[in-house]
Amino acid sequence: MTLYREEFDIREMDFAHAGEASIRIKTVLKEVGAESGLVHRAAICAYEAEMNEVMYGRRGRMTLELSEDLLQIIVEDDGPGIEDVDLAMTEGYSTATEEMREMGFGAGMGLPNIKRNADRLTVHSGPARGTRLEIVFDTGWRTTEP
Ligand SMILES: Nc1ncnc2c1ncn2[C@@H]1O[C@H](COP(=O)(O)OP(=O)(O)O)[C@@H](O)[C@H]1O
Ligand SMILES: [Mg+2]
Repeated sequence: MTLYREEFDIREMDFAHAGEASIRIKTVLKEVGAESGLVHRAAICAYEAEMNEVMYGRRGRMTLELSEDLLQIIVEDDGPGIEDVDLAMTEGYSTATEEMREMGFGAGMGLPNIKRNADRLTVHSGPARGTRLEIVFDTGWRTTEP
């Protein structure tokens, strides 16, 4: 059962608003009293996924979903897709443009960082299919502490 759900639209190359969805996700998780380590890990994943939408996804949507004992962040777009997901998951691999690199992006650590910080990551992607990331935390976002 879904207890909380919030959706965010992310627009391509909209660097002015980039990062806002992940800040909102962090705020919600703090408000519901999620454990601080979890808030931190989820915020890293959300930020990296959001930046990938801005840079590569054309038009993306990020959804935060809290259910009984799962925290899920679903990120989907109908952009160009990832040809070789294993390669894209490799540390240092990036197709960022010169312009993006000048802004400090393109280290090729985003997907590896999501993988490291999430409990589970599923990537569905392919040319002309767009991309869908399912970022799952199953350690439980609900704590007994106030
Ligand atoms: N939503 C997406 N759509 C298409 N390609 C993507 C998407 N997300 C990631 N990629 C591809 O995977 C590569 C690696 O992503 P990432 O590890 O976040 O590194 P970086 O963002 O620094 O390029 C990107 O350079 C890009 O080629
Ligand atoms: Mg990235």
